[in-house]
Amino acid sequence: MIYRPRRLRRTETLRSLVREHRTSIEHLVQPLFVVERQADAGAIVSMPGIERFSVEGVVDEVRALDALGIKSVLLFGIPAHKDAVASSNYDDNGVVQRAIRAIKTAAPQVAVIADLCNCEYTDHGHCGILDDRGNVDNDATVALLVRTALTYAKAGVDVIAPSDMMDGRVGAIRSALDAHGHTDTAIMAYSAKYASAFYGPFRDAAGSVPQFGDRRSYQMDPANANEALREIALDLEEGADIVMVKPGLPYLDIVRAARDAFDVPIAVYNVSGEYAMLKAAAANGWIDEHRAVDETLIAFGRAGADIIITYFAKDYAQRKAMGA
Ligand code: PBG
Repeated sequence: MIYRPRRLRRTETLRSLVREHRTSIEHLVQPLFVVERQADAGAIVSMPGIERFSVEGVVDEVRALDALGIKSVLLFGIPAHKDAVASSNYDDNGVVQRAIRAIKTAAPQVAVIADLCNCEYTDHGHCGILDDRGNVDNDATVALLVRTALTYAKAGVDVIAPSDMMDGRVGAIRSALDAHGHTDTAIMAYSAKYASAFYGPFRDAAGSVPQFGDRRSYQMDPANANEALREIALDLEEGADIVMVKPGLPYLDIVRAARDAFDVPIAVYNVSGEYAMLKAAAANGWIDEHRAVDETLIAFGRAGADIIITYFAKDYAQRKAMGA
């Protein structure tokens, strides 16, 4: 035997010396839920350890994250008022707009990314506005998204992240931002977003369960891989700066394919259901949470992701700060 792979696995120092990937805290993004009504703040049952914050609460949380080295956050708003046309979404004084301003004032060095979608703001829970037959009207929805995007940009957001999966929204948002002087506001497109069962806990957290039907007429079919590359190419042509694959673990092949095909930053979203599964198994003593989280995060890097959006970000940074 000339080559013995075990030689370099003998001690932690040697293993570390030849380690190909590392999870770095700089690449992690913490999603944060911000509520307009104080009564909606607090724990989320299906996502143990994750909370919904008031605007004041979220500023404190961002300061704590910043101190731990998590310098990028992804905001989701939970408004007091929902209606058919998501009017709380494009309100200059809406919950996300206020949170953006408050965070950028308190911690300007933190990168604020705002998820852009209508599902948390519509009373029917769909990501767009409906036509008279109850179908999501693509172009009318894009017009609303553009309107909201401008209010986020005006509030000082660093990155806008459209997660609605309407056709043509990236191009429409990019032109509107540029026309209004927001040429520096970046776009992280949820390009390959699948119609997934793994969003369940998020919909609990955001109160965005569709009141009828499902999201399969706009989110991607889990069976398709080539289509993901087409979606990513389209978003890049339309001006996306960062593209995303979502969910994460069941779609690592898509992350790898995207990495091989495109020379742009790729984000992966380790979604609520992936978080909940691990937490539930750990709570039952069926899995070692810390090792499973470390393994999950390294898998994203190994698959080719640059940016990892994960509910585990804070906990991971806390553990690393304690040397664990
Ligand atoms: C909004 C949105 C969703 C998620 C991110 N943005 C929910 C959905 O599409 O139903 C899911 C995030 C998660 O599950 O952690 N459209």
